[in-house]
Amino acid sequence: MPDFARGPFPSTRMRRHRAHAWSRRMVEETSLAVSDLIWPLFVLDQQDSESVPSLPGVSRLGTKDILKAVEYACELEIPAIAIFPVTDPSLKTEDAQEATNPDNLVCRTVRNIKQHFGDQIGVICDVALDPYSSHGQDGLVRDGVILNDETISVLCQQAIIQADSGCDIIAPSDMMDGRIGEIRDALDEQGHEEVQIMSYAAKYASGFYGPFRDAVGSAGNLGKGDKKTYQQCPSQTDEALHEVALDLLEGADSVMVKPGMPYLDVLQRVKETFRVPTFVYQVSGEYAMLSAAAENGWLDRRATVLESLLAFKRAGADGVLTYFAAEAAAWLKE
Ligand code: PBG
Repeated sequence: MPDFARGPFPSTRMRRHRAHAWSRRMVEETSLAVSDLIWPLFVLDQQDSESVPSLPGVSRLGTKDILKAVEYACELEIPAIAIFPVTDPSLKTEDAQEATNPDNLVCRTVRNIKQHFGDQIGVICDVALDPYSSHGQDGLVRDGVILNDETISVLCQQAIIQADSGCDIIAPSDMMDGRIGEIRDALDEQGHEEVQIMSYAAKYASGFYGPFRDAVGSAGNLGKGDKKTYQQCPSQTDEALHEVALDLLEGADSVMVKPGMPYLDVLQRVKETFRVPTFVYQVSGEYAMLSAAAENGWLDRRATVLESLLAFKRAGADGVLTYFAAEAAAWLKE
């Protein structure tokens, strides 16, 4: 007990601060703002949008609706969006060559967004092969093994064409060893020194990515496969710090912990250890859980969504990738 305290109850009453809305606000340690939100968007190579059954309220956006969504994000002052392409199954191959096609869906979409909105909003692109590979893995595969070094050269190409298209932040989500440094060098050689790298540094082999894989159509490709030889085992936290340290040494501008709510301990350790811009991904399974419970009337959607987002801030996040971004931003602006 600090010596300035008069002593416990009845002198000390913890409820005094809680008694009024103004006073709860006055002592607030952590707060949530629109500037904390990053909105992941799925894009389709057709006019019309499609809904995603396992992500109620989230759509694969067609060519018309993507610009509307970005316009809405700009209106809400969401700082950045993350674009995920739904690749036509006929374009998926063993070597994921569509990933390096400068005219692929994600590149065309980024060019279109940048043409219309310029620097009003930041655009983030994932670097990984899973949207493009017939096996649904993030890397190249030989004899059932995910190849590390061979994959990196494809990832570098993928990063370059996305940066060429106007992408502001390259976000490698593949978890290959050493890719951040090589991608940084590749970007710099092409004159993209200004393009940021947000590393999915502590990304776990999680069951919570299911609805995302439905959304981008990679669930069927992956089948019974898993990503445990490259994504981290959920038992590890020291290893997350090691991953983050390496990615920072290799030149990452910011790092990410993923998934979010089951890994708040990891998020807190990363932020406290490195004090660098640290993001967290409230992944598709987390969205699905909250939405399903709210749809059933079991949880209050607004209360639980805002509480979950605030919890990320309290644990140390500088920003949150969340499918609730637009909805939460609209609530925060009321
Ligand atoms: C691709 C990627 C995944 C997510 C983001 N980028 C899926 C995966 O690694 O299998 C998951 C996002 C989510 O679940 O919302 N490498």
